Amino acid sequence: MSFEILKPYLDNSINKKKIFIKTFGCQMNEYDSNRIYDTVKKIGYEKTDKYENANCYLLNTCHIRDKAKEKVYHEIGRVKKIFRSKLKPLVIVAGCVAQAEHEEMLKREPYIDLVLGPQAYHKINDTILEHQNKKKREEETEFDAFAKFDYLSKIKNQSNKISSFLTIQEGCDKFCNFCVVPFTRGPEYSRPFDQILEEAKQLVLSGSKEITLLGQNVNAYDFEGSRLSDLILELEKITGLKRIRYTTSHPRDMTDDLIDVYKKSKKLMPLIHLPVQSGSDKVLELMNRKHTIKTYIQIYYRLKKINPKLAFSSDFIIAYPGEDEKDFKDTLKLIDEIRFINSFSFIFSPRPGTVASNLLTIDRNKSLDRLKVVQKKLVHNQLKVNKSIENKTIKVLVENRIKDKSKLFGRSEYMTSVLFDGADNLIGKIVNVKIKNSNQNTLFGYVIDSTNEKVA
Ligand code: SAM
Ligand code: SF4
Ligand code: F3S
Repeated sequence: MSFEILKPYLDNSINKKKIFIKTFGCQMNEYDSNRIYDTVKKIGYEKTDKYENANCYLLNTCHIRDKAKEKVYHEIGRVKKIFRSKLKPLVIVAGCVAQAEHEEMLKREPYIDLVLGPQAYHKINDTILEHQNKKKREEETEFDAFAKFDYLSKIKNQSNKISSFLTIQEGCDKFCNFCVVPFTRGPEYSRPFDQILEEAKQLVLSGSKEITLLGQNVNAYDFEGSRLSDLILELEKITGLKRIRYTTSHPRDMTDDLIDVYKKSKKLMPLIHLPVQSGSDKVLELMNRKHTIKTYIQIYYRLKKINPKLAFSSDFIIAYPGEDEKDFKDTLKLIDEIRFINSFSFIFSPRPGTVASNLLTIDRNKSLDRLKVVQKKLVHNQLKVNKSIENKTIKVLVENRIKDKSKLFGRSEYMTSVLFDGADNLIGKIVNVKIKNSNQNTLFGYVIDSTNEKVA
C-alpha cells in the first residue's frame, strides 16, 4: 500500500487527542474517572493507558489521608519530567484535593491548566474547549450534583466491564470530626430513581453482570421517599443482572427496610461493608459518629439471624485523639466478636478544616504499634476465613483473564479474588470453583462447572 493512501489514516492517528487519567482514592473516584472518559469522547479524546502518549493528563485526586496535597504536587513534578522533551500536555487536577485547594493550585503550580471539583465534571468539555480557545487557566469547584448527574445521564456509561460501579448518592451531611468528605463532596444528594435504573439497564445491556451501587453514604439514599432497599428490589428485576452490591454504608442508616431486603433479595451479595471506626463508645462520641457499639452489634445479630452466612467488613481509625489503652482494647474486642473479613485500618490523619485537625495526636510510635496489633488480628481472621474455604466449592463471577494470560480472575460472593484455570467463554458467567489453596487476599482453584444459581 502506498504512503499516499495511508497518509490520511496516519495523520488522523497522530492528531488524535489522547487522555490519560490517574485515579486515586475511593470507588466513587473510579466511577467518576470512567464517566470523564465517556464525556471527553464527545470532544474527540480517546482513552490511553500509556501516560507518555497523552496530550491530556488528568489527576483524579483523593484528600482522605496523609499528605494528599503534597502527593499531587509531587505527581505533577513527575509529569513535568516525563514531558520535558515533548509537547506539554493539558494538565487537569480533578477530585477531592482539587475541591479543597482550588485556586491555590493554579497559583502554586503554573504547570496545572485546569482545576475541577468532583461536582463539576459535567463542565469538563466546555472548560477544556474554553481553555484551548482562550488559553485561560480556570477552576470549577461549585457543588452541583444535580447538574452533574443530569448531564451524565445523557451520556452512555461505557464501563464495558463484567462488574461495574454506579454512583447513586453523593456527599455527606454527617460531619464526622475527622473527615473531609462533607467539604470535598458537598451536601448529601440522591440521584433520581429512574435515572439510576436507566443507567443500570444500559450497563447490563453492554455486558455488566454485577453492579456495585456507590455513595459516600449509600444507605442514606432517599429520592422522594424511595430508599436504597426499593432500588435494590427494582434492580433485582433486571434480567441479566446477577449480583448487586452497595458501598459505603453508615451504621445509622442501616434501617429496618434495608435489613429486610436481605430476606427478600436473591441478587444482593452477602458481604456488608459497614465501617465502625472504633470499638469504643467514648471514641465514637469524640469522632461525632452518631452511633454506638451496642446499635452496631444489634445490626450485626439482626442480619446474622436473617442469614447466618452474611459477613461484615469495616474501616477502622486507630489512635484517634483521646483513644486510650482501654478504648483500643475495646476495638480488639469488637473485632473478636464480629470477625470482620477484608477490613481497612488506618492511623488517624489530621485533615485541614476538620474539627479533629487541631486535636492533640497520639505519639507516632504508639499509634504504629496499635495499628500493627489491629492489622495482625484482622489478617489472622482473613487467613482463617480463606483457609476454611479450601476444598470447598464456591460460586465465582468470572471477570477477565489476568495480565499474563495464565488464569481467569473472578470474585467470590464475599468479594475475595479467585484465580483459576478455565476457558475465555466463562467470562461473564457464574461458575463453581473448587478452592485448593489460599492466601490473605486470594483463593486459588479450578472450575467444576458453570451455573447461574446463588448459594448464600
Ligand atoms: N462514609 C463512610 C463511613 O461513614 O463510614 C466512610 C467514607 S471515607 C471516604 C472512608 C474511610 O476513610 C473511613 O471509613 C475512615 O475509616 C477513613 N478516614 C476518613 N478520614 C480519615 C482520617 N482523617 N484519618 C484516617 N482515616 C480516615
Ligand atoms: Fe466522612 Fe463517612 Fe463520616 Fe460522612 S459519614 S463525614 S463520609 S466518615
Ligand atoms: Fe478520597 Fe474523595 Fe473518595 S477524599 S475517599 S476520593 S470521596
